[in-house]
Amino acid sequence: MDLFEKIVKKPGPIGIYRDKAHGYYMFPKLEGELSNKMVFMGKERLVWSLNNYLGLGNHPEVRKADAEAAAQWGLAYPMGARMMSGHTDYHEKLENELAAYVGREAAYLLNYGYQGMLSIIDSLVDRKDVIVYDSEAHACIIDGMRLHFGKRFVYPHNDMNNLDKELERATKIVKETGGGILVITEGVYGMSGDLGNLKEITRLKDKYQFRLLVDDAHGFGTMGPTGAGTDEHFGVRDKVDLYFGTFAKAFAGIGGFIAGKKEIIWHLMYNMRSQVFAKSLPMPMVIGALKRLEMVKTMPEFREKLWKIANALQKGLRDKGFNLGNTESPVTPVILSGEVAEATQITYDLRENYNIFCSIVSFPVVPKGIILLRLIPTASHTMEDVEYTIKAFSEVKEKLDAGKYASGEIEKMVVE
Ligand SMILES: Cc1ncc(COP(=O)(O)O)c(C=O)c1O
Repeated sequence: MDLFEKIVKKPGPIGIYRDKAHGYYMFPKLEGELSNKMVFMGKERLVWSLNNYLGLGNHPEVRKADAEAAAQWGLAYPMGARMMSGHTDYHEKLENELAAYVGREAAYLLNYGYQGMLSIIDSLVDRKDVIVYDSEAHACIIDGMRLHFGKRFVYPHNDMNNLDKELERATKIVKETGGGILVITEGVYGMSGDLGNLKEITRLKDKYQFRLLVDDAHGFGTMGPTGAGTDEHFGVRDKVDLYFGTFAKAFAGIGGFIAGKKEIIWHLMYNMRSQVFAKSLPMPMVIGALKRLEMVKTMPEFREKLWKIANALQKGLRDKGFNLGNTESPVTPVILSGEVAEATQITYDLRENYNIFCSIVSFPVVPKGIILLRLIPTASHTMEDVEYTIKAFSEVKEKLDAGKYASGEIEKMVVE
């Protein structure tokens, strides 16, 4: 069979929705300035689907720093990978400041968190080692593990009894192989908003010998008293061996970093293939991240505003009877039961009749029968946005409970 013929017939678990969903539910175009209100299909909508948590994406000072850095350096500099010719004082300065912010000895920049995570995992373990990870791990963690030739054990999301059992199993294996154990969790789970149980996971260090890697993509800049992350929130920094953050969310940029003990960061610098063999972060990204870091450190008002909006939104929705799962972060999942067709109708109704743009998540990302509407509150939202949204969601829930979406009464654009 011809390879291309085969893949055209088998578009993949998300690709199967492509024909009906493209351009509306998937690959939508949000236009205009990054903000609480943006234009979708020619109309202004209230947007709840950007991880621009602190509202920095369009902050004038950030825009100015980005623009000045681009004017001074262009996007080409530095050329090459860090190891060969792409290293600069600015990259090092940002690494030192990030390390200090997240309370670690050293940090190393990653050109894209995703690729970085892949190579972090790849460089930490060999076939003798065992990885133990949470069942809701992000795709970048799963892909990192695909590179691993040794054993890997999964524990059901945040199930500490099960983690204990898997650690016992892993311990037996590494005793035979002479390897070590790497546990990987997220700080904040980006779909459900609940937190990796860092308190209990780190407590298991008293019982088992393992190293802990935390992917805190959503927690970096949003969680903890100074925004330095979910391990700061739980007060367990000293027990988290490696801390991973991205600039793609609260820092509204591109790139990321890994932080930990100096000797381990040195090992990663020389071994992460996606970094050793790929171009360094361009200067405007680095100088832009320095500016963001300075603002996050000195201006707590962004985080305070984020939490004010997040708390009001979550309280309002819960008071109206919505199931928000176990979120303890700004990520606000509205969990409804229904099929993909209903989910798309609800999303359509929200977008077209209420001008609310939020992301819709359904099977296969979440289990069959569950629809997750994911709202991301940010510091650029207002209390009026919150009130309006709670009212709109209440109306949507009434229609859902009355079976109006299933009966097709509100049908406009359904994807099944
Ligand atoms: C948990 C988690 N880890 C890693 C990443 C990847 O980060 P980046 O966008 O910097 O590649 C994301 C982004 O979606 C994420 O949610």
